[in-house]
Amino acid sequence: IHYFPGRLFQWLILLTGKIFSFAKRNTDYELQCLILTRCFFFSSNFTQVPHLAGTKENLHLAQQIQAEWKEFGLDSVELIHYDVLLSYPDDSKPNYISIIDEHGNEIFNTSLSEPPPPGYEAVRDVVPPYSAFSAQGMPEGELVYVNYGRTEDFFKLEREMGINCTGKIVIARYGKIFRGNKVKNAELAGAKGVILYSDPADYCAPGTDPYPNGWNLPGGGAQRGNILNLNGAGDPLTPGYPAKEYTYRLDKASGVGLPKIPVHPIGYDDAESLLRKVKMHIHSNNEVRRIYNVIGIIRGAVEPDRYVILGGHRDSWVFGGIDPQSGAAVVHEIVRSFGKLKRKGWRPRRTVIFASWDAEEFGLFGSTEWAEENAKVLQARGVAYINADSSIEGNYTLRVDCTPLMYRLVYSLTKEIPSPDEGFEGKSLYESWYKKNPSREYKEVPRINKLGSGNDFEVFFQRLGIASGRARYSKNWNVEKYSSYPVYHSVYETYEIVERFYDPTFKNHLTVAQVRGGLVFELANSAVLPFDCRDYASAVSNYAHIIYNLSRNHEEELATYNVSFDALFSAVKNFTEVAASFHERLQQIDSNNPLAVRSLNDQLMFLERAFIDPFGLPGRPFYRHIIFAPSSHNKYAGESFPGIYDAMFDIESKVDQHEAWEEVKKQISIAAFTVQAAAETLKEVG
Ligand SMILES: *[C@@H]1O[C@H](CO)[C@@H](O)[C@H](O)[C@H]1NC(C)=O
Ligand SMILES: *[C@@H]1O[C@H](CO)[C@@H](O)[C@H](O)[C@H]1NC(C)=O
Ligand SMILES: *[C@@H]1O[C@H](CO)[C@@H](O)[C@H](O)[C@H]1NC(C)=O
Ligand SMILES: *[C@@H]1O[C@H](CO)[C@@H](O)[C@H](O)[C@H]1NC(C)=O
Ligand SMILES: *[C@@H]1O[C@H](CO)[C@@H](O)[C@H](O)[C@H]1NC(C)=O
Ligand SMILES: *[C@@H]1O[C@H](CO)[C@@H](O)[C@H](O)[C@H]1NC(C)=O
Ligand SMILES: *[C@@H]1O[C@H](CO)[C@@H](O)[C@H](O)[C@H]1NC(C)=O
Ligand SMILES: [Zn+2]
Repeated sequence: IHYFPGRLFQWLILLTGKIFSFAKRNTDYELQCLILTRCFFFSSNFTQVPHLAGTKENLHLAQQIQAEWKEFGLDSVELIHYDVLLSYPDDSKPNYISIIDEHGNEIFNTSLSEPPPPGYEAVRDVVPPYSAFSAQGMPEGELVYVNYGRTEDFFKLEREMGINCTGKIVIARYGKIFRGNKVKNAELAGAKGVILYSDPADYCAPGTDPYPNGWNLPGGGAQRGNILNLNGAGDPLTPGYPAKEYTYRLDKASGVGLPKIPVHPIGYDDAESLLRKVKMHIHSNNEVRRIYNVIGIIRGAVEPDRYVILGGHRDSWVFGGIDPQSGAAVVHEIVRSFGKLKRKGWRPRRTVIFASWDAEEFGLFGSTEWAEENAKVLQARGVAYINADSSIEGNYTLRVDCTPLMYRLVYSLTKEIPSPDEGFEGKSLYESWYKKNPSREYKEVPRINKLGSGNDFEVFFQRLGIASGRARYSKNWNVEKYSSYPVYHSVYETYEIVERFYDPTFKNHLTVAQVRGGLVFELANSAVLPFDCRDYASAVSNYAHIIYNLSRNHEEELATYNVSFDALFSAVKNFTEVAASFHERLQQIDSNNPLAVRSLNDQLMFLERAFIDPFGLPGRPFYRHIIFAPSSHNKYAGESFPGIYDAMFDIESKVDQHEAWEEVKKQISIAAFTVQAAAETLKEVG
């Protein structure tokens, strides 16, 4: 017990359900894991039937979670609904792709569904693989292979290979970037249809078999997913506003981010058969349906008007074995442990909000609509948002993406959590994580990534400027080159794949529960917010150097157009100095003076908010964070100083060089202003 004297101790015990024998950590790990976490149970319970957003099964699961969170002891648990645009295949007119002969006969058709995994043959309501929000249509034409469909792939086709995609159907392999970006690139290139397929090179890891004998994607499996380009808008018909009954809706044809061409996903067996000329048959319908978030609250004892949010989605394409139920089970376990602590008389200092989001898979709708409805309150009171999608995408080490404000919190917390990894018995999670994935940018700490998007933290971080973070167990990215995890969004994401291949003892689930729950606990309970503004200064300085270095590929133009980064570096220097003196003041804080504590805490809370530009990034009004944004070329990835980056991207190909460099200058000045303005908020008050 002496190994973990920290404040977390009491809570960690409750999380594990039984006394977690820290003193002899890992010695009887198997046994501990069996008694420790109910993630097993929750995970298995949540994955028996499909929970597609907009279906009654997912409403039933929402009601079950509501009832159980009440039973666990939360102060209130509500179902909050929105009516959003969703997309489903037409039961009577299946989607498929055929090869046609010279008479137009369909001489080969792609399969209409995936062969069911063993034990699930009788399950009804498995939605067949489809690209949600595809346009309807039956285009036919020549097929052009566009690799991953990235910006650089289309550059290569057009500029080096002289291949014109106008009027063609393109086939892109899944992987590397968000599928919606592939579709957008194909549209811009003039394609009239897109086929997405899972290539064995990206969805089969060496050394394992296709499911059920291993954890690779079978040849008949395919990846579902939405193909929207929402840029943070949420429901396509109500951008910026919650999709309530009274809300004005755009007509379906002019919804935000909808693709204009038919798109369909297939597996590698079918991909192998496709020849040069194909015909697509896409009949999916877009329709408004009701979705439900579960919102559970524990009121804060001291600062009830400060909110720490733990949210993760509940809807799944099919069974959701990994995505999202490996995460939803962890949230459930965290709620149970917080409830247990509360029953013993404890309350967090700040209010904790637990959220089970709906319709994440269709475009982050549950989280975005809720944040739109509560934007004013969240901007005034939101301290932090911790995201909780899949807990596992591999079994190698921890992966964290978060705001620089949370770096130190993540490091100190992981030093208090035992490593679940083989060969690290008696060591901390921090130690195994650092050993397996050291940072490239900073000395002697584990790697933490920038936040991009593709998950429910997006609206909180990128639109509202609420400090955010996410954590999960991941693969070894240096050697495991396959995309995400092989069975991603296929019918083979079952409970069994988790139990048999990813985390048989659920020890990694436990670790992720400790990290996510520990972050929430510390953020909600520490008297002084566990944010460090000096790390934001180092990060911003690093990003300023990166973008400046990038600009030096254009040394001549920088001179010709008088482009200077001086103002940005000046602001970064100012921010760094102000952050250092803020931190010093924080050390001398009179902790018996609640107003003084609250005042400094508010400066810390509002720092992330200070990076929000109300006008948003160029062409992307809902991405408003000036330091970070989802990459314009890959929604999943984070880009730093996105305004400057996008202005400089491919600048040599722009027709009007003067205009192009004026835009760069404008973006540098916006960045400089924003960093300086953020520095002002940290200065001593009065
Ligand atoms: C899941 O758990 C709930 C509550 O214990 C129970 O009512 C339900 O039948 C279980 N569902 C499945 C599919 O096991
Ligand atoms: C493909 O499907 C169409 C429509 O159902 C059908 O007419 C055609 O015969 C099928 N072709 C093959 C090779 O199965
Ligand atoms: C590609 O083809 C279309 C129509 O055939 C034509 O309008 C367009 O200019 C072509 N693009 C290039 C880059 O040649
Ligand atoms: C789990 O870890 C083992 C040992 O490193 C590895 O061989 C295996 O591929 C991993 N399983 C998965 C599903 O990543
Ligand atoms: C920027 O370039 C300089 C000179 O090449 C190099 O020393 C420095 O490490 C680079 N900085 C970053 C953050 O890439
Ligand atoms: C170049 O920009 C600097 C400020 O960045 C300004 O002081 C200077 O006058 C400009 N020079 C020209 C030739 O526009
Ligand atoms: C940085 O601070 C100095 C000194 O207060 C000030 O002159 C300068 O304008 C500031 N930089 C920016 C970009 O505001
Ligand atoms: Zn998910």
